[in-house]
Amino acid sequence: MTDLLPQMHPPRILVVDDEEGIREGLKALLSQKGFWVEGSGDLEDAVRRNESHSFDLVFLDIRLPGSNGLDGIVPLRKGSNPPEVVILTGHGTVGSTVEAMRKGAFDVLEKPFDPDRLIGVATRCLETRRLKGQVDNLKGRVRELTSTELVGQSDSIRQTLQRIHQVAQAPDTTILIEGESGTGKELVARCIHENSARSQGPFVGINCAALTENLLEAELFGYEAGAFTGATKEGKDGLFAAASGGSLLLDEIGELPMNLQAKLLRVLQEKSYRKVGGVKDHPSRVRIIAATNRNLAQLVQEGKFREDLYYRLHVISIRTPPLRERPEDIPLLAHYFLDFFGKQMGKALTGFTEDAMEDLVEYTWPGNVRELKNAVEHAAILCPFGLIGDEHLPHWHGGLPGGGDVIPTEALELPRDDRSLKSMERILIERVLDEMGWNISRAADKLGINRTTLYNKIKLHKLGKRPMRNPLGV
Ligand SMILES: Nc1ncnc2c1ncn2[C@@H]1O[C@H](COP(=O)(O)OP(=O)(O)OP(=O)(O)O)[C@@H](O)[C@H]1O
Ligand SMILES: [Mg+2]
Repeated sequence: MTDLLPQMHPPRILVVDDEEGIREGLKALLSQKGFWVEGSGDLEDAVRRNESHSFDLVFLDIRLPGSNGLDGIVPLRKGSNPPEVVILTGHGTVGSTVEAMRKGAFDVLEKPFDPDRLIGVATRCLETRRLKGQVDNLKGRVRELTSTELVGQSDSIRQTLQRIHQVAQAPDTTILIEGESGTGKELVARCIHENSARSQGPFVGINCAALTENLLEAELFGYEAGAFTGATKEGKDGLFAAASGGSLLLDEIGELPMNLQAKLLRVLQEKSYRKVGGVKDHPSRVRIIAATNRNLAQLVQEGKFREDLYYRLHVISIRTPPLRERPEDIPLLAHYFLDFFGKQMGKALTGFTEDAMEDLVEYTWPGNVRELKNAVEHAAILCPFGLIGDEHLPHWHGGLPGGGDVIPTEALELPRDDRSLKSMERILIERVLDEMGWNISRAADKLGINRTTLYNKIKLHKLGKRPMRNPLGV
């Protein structure tokens, strides 16, 4: 048995053919390869046996006594985990092949068979079935774990989910979400909103780093007529008014200018705000959710963020963990995004090859979930159908070193013109391979990728051992 088929039990195959010689021949050939094989002489018997034995693969002759094998495909493939069907034909016409595939056959084999081809088809078919099973399993788990669309099964994500549900119950409490870029802070904010008593109200977000101080203040609180040059005659409501009854996400709160920090503190203390140029207090009816990828406590220490505001915001805090701390979430997220992009692009993308998934899990994802999502989108665009392989993933994904000693850049030869990532990757890989004396395992280790990826990259970049370089490496 090849290690392509790591299963608890040997795969079960049913050979349906009225000619005993063919049945016995196939049984002998397939059993030799470690498959568990049964034979059947007619369609009715085959369907009955399949119902009680649930086979993984059925080889089905097209000409059977009193029936056409093609009529057996649909009944054999009933149920939740049906076998794959490979049609055997001595009379292979284009018509019957097309009909077989349309009815759901995996492949069509013409008699007389070439034993290698037959084993090849069986192996490929069973491997596809195993992967389909894995994908269905993961999809089921994704559905199960995404009541809030926040995908993950790691302990840290479970804690985050638990926190979301707790804070959702307190619809007025201010919340601070802290986490690196791309870890899902905005998603968490939306989940809080959607699960809270404010879910019928609006969810409004603003990036505090995106506007100048004056514009940000006007955007947040609104302004009265003639408040400043360029202000409209009627004045304008701000986001506190727009989000009334709902939630207001103040993203990148660490970038809020000092002057506005004071104003926000006042809103939190007095639960009211003033428009720019106004004298009237308007009640604030929003829940404030603040998010940051900075270390706010440190900003407080450095005198860049008001301590009193920090404590006001920090009533409840939620941390969105970086992806590298929870690699067990990567397969789930990758399948989730693949499903999403597959549907969006109308493509039948069934999953990832083992190598591709290994690479995804091994990479450290400095851009966190957003980077993973982008990588899957990239792969979904490049892959026409079926499984995502290494070659569809962005070529930088496995090429970044996982850590270790710093190699001074002066010691690397950087080409004058071509500074593409691909070219940098080639240089780095070649350099590490040289350093490791072309020991693939050690070089792969050093580069933070697996050996298969390294072999693929050596092929991709057409690398080969070079004569010894001078000791400075230049
Ligand atoms: N656990 C998750 N499940 C599903 N999708 C996720 C998850 N975490 C993040 N995402 C997706 O990843 C992308 C980035 O997430 P989001 O914008 O919430 O991150 P962020 O922490 O706000 O990033 P930034 O600091 O750069 O603003 C979004 O498309 C989001 O839907
Ligand atoms: Mg964000």
